[in-house]
Amino acid sequence: MRTDIEALDWNVGNIYQSKDNEGRKTVDEVFDQATLRHIQQLFSRRIISTIENIIATGKEANVFRAKTFDGRNRAVKIYRLNTATFRKLEKYIEGDSRFRNSGNNPRERVFTWAQKEYKNLHSMIAGGVMAPKPFHVYKNIVVMQYLGWRYRPYPTLRELPPQEPKKFLKLLLDSIKSYRKMKLSHGDLSEYNILNVREKPYIIDVGQAVPKEHPLYGELHKRDMENMYKYWKRKIKNLNDRWFI
Ligand SMILES: Nc1ncnc2c1ncn2[C@@H]1O[C@H](COP(=O)(O)OP(=O)(O)O)[C@@H](O)[C@H]1O
Ligand SMILES: [Mg+2]
Repeated sequence: MRTDIEALDWNVGNIYQSKDNEGRKTVDEVFDQATLRHIQQLFSRRIISTIENIIATGKEANVFRAKTFDGRNRAVKIYRLNTATFRKLEKYIEGDSRFRNSGNNPRERVFTWAQKEYKNLHSMIAGGVMAPKPFHVYKNIVVMQYLGWRYRPYPTLRELPPQEPKKFLKLLLDSIKSYRKMKLSHGDLSEYNILNVREKPYIIDVGQAVPKEHPLYGELHKRDMENMYKYWKRKIKNLNDRWFI
């Protein structure tokens, strides 16, 4: 198996040769020179062996499915190294004492952001939240548990509402309670950032989550709970609003 830059070219080449137009566009957009070097490092450190397909393209990040050398799937979230990403993230990093001395240039701030997502996932898992397990973080790349079947990620709550909303919500509230116990606010909790994993809620996209001492801690959680209440009100009759505090 090739683990050098050739392997990367080969993987990217696969995407180029496929009918995946979206994929081709993304390869051009996401893989700036620095990011190519960072992916290369993941190959040489034997963290992943191939990048298989693109799962999602977003404004700040792209998510890929990758394989480990022993054939397991991984989700690889690659943050874009541009100032737009940096600007969006800034207010969440500032005020987070975990990242006080975290570099000043925009690129290093994006690296800090990846670290922050990794750490947040770690705390959440430690607290018993259903979320993807984090495996590695390197520069602007987070490698985590892949939640999907073969090449297809499990749908978001937006794409596939649960068959038994009450049961699903109960599990979700347990997860929320668990990260509150770890003194975190998610900050972007919505039907887009919860995956429906065979009728179980998995919370994703935790880069912006902040700890208790952060000035936005209260406000972000309040907004999350308001959004969740609005969403679940449409799914469940006689919804108890005290569940959303
Ligand atoms: N661990 C994962 N396993 C499978 N799919 C994932 C995973 N993490 C993210 N995704 C997919 O990628 C999409 C974007 O991920 P997300 O973390 O929400 O990034 P963004 O910041 O772009 O919203 C998700 O909607 C989901 O479809
Ligand atoms: Mg998202």
